[in-house]
Amino acid sequence: MFQSIICEVDESVGILTLNKAERHNAFDERLIAEMTSGLLELEADTRVRVLVISSTGKSFCAGADLNWMKRAASYTPQENLHDARNLARLMSTLNTLSKPTIARVQGPAYGGGVGLIAACDIAVATYDAVFALTEVKLGIVPAVISPYLLTAIGERYCRRYMLSAERFSAAEAYRIGLVQEIVPGEEQLDEAIGEIVDSLLKNGPHAQAECKSLIRVVSGQPIDESCIEETAQRITRVRSSPEGMEGLAAFLEKRKPNWMG
Ligand code: COA
Repeated sequence: MFQSIICEVDESVGILTLNKAERHNAFDERLIAEMTSGLLELEADTRVRVLVISSTGKSFCAGADLNWMKRAASYTPQENLHDARNLARLMSTLNTLSKPTIARVQGPAYGGGVGLIAACDIAVATYDAVFALTEVKLGIVPAVISPYLLTAIGERYCRRYMLSAERFSAAEAYRIGLVQEIVPGEEQLDEAIGEIVDSLLKNGPHAQAECKSLIRVVSGQPIDESCIEETAQRITRVRSSPEGMEGLAAFLEKRKPNWMG
């Protein structure tokens, strides 16, 4: 049974809600362990086609729990590393889930909270959401979230916001590509996410998983012979898969595809 998160399934949508509102959903050992297990549970649940990462309370996520960070500094070097690896593993688990992921952002998202958003495929925020990479203010670094931030907003904005630790608005998060849509309030947030979920559910689930894997493999590679060959191999495999054949046949027969069939 989870204490710091709520994990639920609403038809085809798995919802993982950060539920430590009194600490602004800051990560400690328990939240990290529960979130990692919750994500893996939803990934394995065959009813679930899309995951939404949500939050209770005033904040989306205040990043690392600073009491936990302080405690970790007094661990042995081995314990300290083990602890850091758990947070790194949470981010990597979220990043590599085969199902589409959506961050539902309201209120402040700081440090690791920004990392969670960057590790999701899709992010929607309310106008009053606020973002910051505050680590350097605390004399630390956004290390385990850096691969996902660099992918989401690029080196240029990482340099600015990692070094300055400035707070930035939802409009700025939208401009730099951290979130892809901004809406006035929570009602519109749920409507916008509902529309995205509807679009996602129309598509082939295996094709979506293949797209996520394709993006990971091709991203950042030089467009050389091996990259070109990799892409050819992938479409060869996917178009002759049951789902590929069903999708193509459904279009040509002017009917809805039966993905589960
Ligand atoms: N770790 C541990 N405790 C935290 C926390 C964090 N990351 N963020 C907030 N809290 C605690 C506060 O210390 C406070 O505890 P208290 O009630 O025992 O005094 C409680 O949560 C409420 O926070 P408060 O600052 O009073 O609420 P607020 O609404 O004014 O501001 C935040 C909320 C999230 C904007 C603010 O708390 C904040 O800036 N937190 C630090 C976030 C951060 O820098 N994270 C990056 C870590 S790498």
